[in-house]
Amino acid sequence: MALFRKTPEVFGLDIGSSAVKVVQLRESGGTWRLVALGTASLPPDVIADGTIKDPPTVVDAIRGAVGKAGVKGSDATIAICGRELIIKKVQIPQVPPKEVHDVVQLEAEHHIPFAIDEVFLDYHGVGQHDGVMDLILVAVKKSKVLEYAAVVEEAGLVPAIVDVDSFALGNQFELNFPEERGEAVALIDIGASIMKTNVVRGGATIFARDIPFGGNNYTQAIAQQLKIPFEQAEAAKLGRDVGVRWEAVVPALETVSRELSLEVQRTFDYFASTAESERIGKIVLAGGCAQLPGLNDYLSSNWGIPVELAKPFERIEVDPAHAEEVAGAAASFAVVVGLALRRPGDKG
Ligand SMILES: Nc1ncnc2c1ncn2[C@@H]1O[C@H](COP(=O)(O)OP(=O)(O)OP(=O)(O)O)[C@@H](O)[C@H]1O
Ligand SMILES: [Mg+2]
Repeated sequence: MALFRKTPEVFGLDIGSSAVKVVQLRESGGTWRLVALGTASLPPDVIADGTIKDPPTVVDAIRGAVGKAGVKGSDATIAICGRELIIKKVQIPQVPPKEVHDVVQLEAEHHIPFAIDEVFLDYHGVGQHDGVMDLILVAVKKSKVLEYAAVVEEAGLVPAIVDVDSFALGNQFELNFPEERGEAVALIDIGASIMKTNVVRGGATIFARDIPFGGNNYTQAIAQQLKIPFEQAEAAKLGRDVGVRWEAVVPALETVSRELSLEVQRTFDYFASTAESERIGKIVLAGGCAQLPGLNDYLSSNWGIPVELAKPFERIEVDPAHAEEVAGAAASFAVVVGLALRRPGDKG
């Protein structure tokens, strides 16, 4: 009975390679409020190269994060990122709306490196001119979605909505900074293993790209240079007292930051080749790695544009119980906040 149906309770479930994060938001009268937040860390190599290598450990972490958060309901919005996800700008001839679907199906075959029946396809329009329509095409390997859905179900939850990390990042930015509608903004989430880029303008994605690069690159470089185990290098990177002086890790950090800047360069070059002379006005960094001291200044001086840290809770009410956790690691919650904003039936 639709009449008596309550607003569905959905929450964001971000299964990252270093941690599972859970956020539930509730909206009333146009105001969003944080009602649940929980995280559970994952040991390295449980999820590697975007593949879940050790499903039971991920299931435990999901249960742990969801339990800590104390969410309502069991419907989760999850997201996919990485190599099995293809996001491309494509052009199709202008056709009546009801024909777009079929034309996209045909066109997609030229753009994705997988068989068409192996992928889920989606698209959204980004403009039209001279008899052509520009679309952002999204294709994801079905097997990847099923792999992530399986651990969610195993944890007793329902993967009600499947999103894309970089789109969640954009969604979060749109809620928190609706006034930024002029220049293109490059949203970059740097997690432990994958960097997700989403260039948005006027609230819409105009370019997106994921590359395998993240905080683990820093940790591995420290481990190699100082000949110490990964775990100790990770703690040293975070400035925890593990018998390694900060000055000792700086050379490794600098080397990897140069590599990171080159990766950003490649992404911007690629963007420039797809988007007629669009200028990127600024970069907004998210993900845990964004909190690396000095990274934003370094990228800003390299790029000559402002580099800011994401503020995913800028327009979300946070009660004192959650304030400390949110303040300490806000940028790393950007994707999960974007996921938590989704509701069944949303288009975007
Ligand atoms: N204060 C900090 N300084 C430097 N690095 C940090 C800091 N806090 C977290 N990190 C790093 O951020 C990374 C984790 O970020 P995040 O939680 O966004 O990753 P994830 O979502 O698990 O990974 P991915 O999205 O790549 O699968 C780790 O490499 C961690 O070392
Ligand atoms: Mg992540």
